[in-house]
Amino acid sequence: MASRREAEKLISAGRVSVNGRVIMELGAKADPDSTTIAVDGKPVDLRPKTIYVLLNKPKGYTSTRRDPHAARVVVDLVKGIEAPLYPVGRLDVDTEGLIILTNDGDFSFKMTHPKHNIPKTYRAEVRGKVTQEELRRLSTGIMLNDGITAPARAILSALNTVRQVSIVEITIREGRKRQVRRMMDAINHSVIKLTRTRFGNLSIGRLKSGEWRFLTQKEVHFLLDMASKTK
Ligand code: URA
Repeated sequence: MASRREAEKLISAGRVSVNGRVIMELGAKADPDSTTIAVDGKPVDLRPKTIYVLLNKPKGYTSTRRDPHAARVVVDLVKGIEAPLYPVGRLDVDTEGLIILTNDGDFSFKMTHPKHNIPKTYRAEVRGKVTQEELRRLSTGIMLNDGITAPARAILSALNTVRQVSIVEITIREGRKRQVRRMMDAINHSVIKLTRTRFGNLSIGRLKSGEWRFLTQKEVHFLLDMASKTK
């Protein structure tokens, strides 16, 4: 609630109390979990502030907080926030699009736990012409080396017959490593470009590559609600 210097002034002025007793000794210690610290008799809220950021990740950034082997990491793009932010789940270094960063470990756990099944939508630009039969295979389940994929939604949103490129919009509820790329490889259409466009009820909207915004409380609650309902 105040800088160290300001806090010392408050303490010296006799305005700070611990469990109702005024403390004027600078450097006195109190455990915020088991005591009530008050200024002018008003309890101070010392719970850490939770922060949720939605970033449009560009290609070439690793989705970890720190990685000595990575040239660039996603948190480098979110400047001016003191709290240590961690990415919620992962996007491959070559994948672009929507990723949430937060300091709320409980939220992150709920968003990534397989039992909660949050839907994630990707726009996959792939080589060749994807057929209806291949879309059906993507949606019913594809055998990968770590097992069959859960039902998904896959539609062909564009086809460029000159360049021999298809755009597939695919929504999956799992989060296996390189899952979309491996699903596309399994139907012999390798991914040229992969972008995550939606996560739960969130979409990348107008955020340009590298831009970010805070999530609203409503958005956070909606996602938590979604996680508590999907099993
Ligand atoms: N699937 C992938 O193949 N890569 C990602 O980054 C996310 C989903």
